[in-house]
Amino acid sequence: MSSIARSRATSSNRCGARWVVGPAGAPCLAGASVSRFRRVRPDPAAELGKDDAKSKERYQVISSGQSIGIGGDGYYGYRDDLYESVSGTLARYGRPVDGRSVFLHKGLFAETWPRYARPQVAFAHIDCDWYDPVEFCLNAVLTRLAPGGIIALDDYHDYGGCRAATDEFLGAHPGVFAVDNGPNLILRRVQLR
Ligand SMILES: C[S@@+](CC[C@H](N)C(=O)[O-])C[C@H]1O[C@@H](n2cnc3c(N)ncnc32)[C@H](O)[C@@H]1O
Repeated sequence: MSSIARSRATSSNRCGARWVVGPAGAPCLAGASVSRFRRVRPDPAAELGKDDAKSKERYQVISSGQSIGIGGDGYYGYRDDLYESVSGTLARYGRPVDGRSVFLHKGLFAETWPRYARPQVAFAHIDCDWYDPVEFCLNAVLTRLAPGGIIALDDYHDYGGCRAATDEFLGAHPGVFAVDNGPNLILRRVQLR
């Protein structure tokens, strides 16, 4: 997670292992209890290859139950009430999970994305650290990304797997995106195909 994401991830805005889709169609995601953790996060140690040592170390810390939350809180990924907590936070900020403009989708992206019914995505914030889910999300979002639509890669400068998945994706779609290489990598769709 980047420094921007860390500073953003206060106790009031963490979200669960699910797509959160706002009015602009922006998905974001987060964790589940440690007992469900192995299902939520593919094990980069097992997959080897494209995730880097930092990713694997981070995975080991989290999956062993040793991760510490931001500001000394418990790590959000171990909470069993994350869905309720995130729903409550969205409601407090005037964006309740109403099933019309704001949705939370529990589960792995590969399971929940096919049920996401909206035809277009205007903005996608991809923040899932590892090669496999980043690769999945990039290719899934591309199928519905509007002309001029934006994809923000939260972990491009932080995790080698995210960088590898993104570089491969850009290589496979030359000329489709304008790239802004800032603190987070920002892709803007400039071509339909
Ligand atoms: C660094 S957290 C980001 C959370 C959130 N965007 C935030 O800033 O608080 C990365 C999240 O990706 C989720 N994740 C990783 N692989 C996933 C997958 N295949 N399907 C669903 N969620 C996944 C993990 O559960 C984890 O909570």
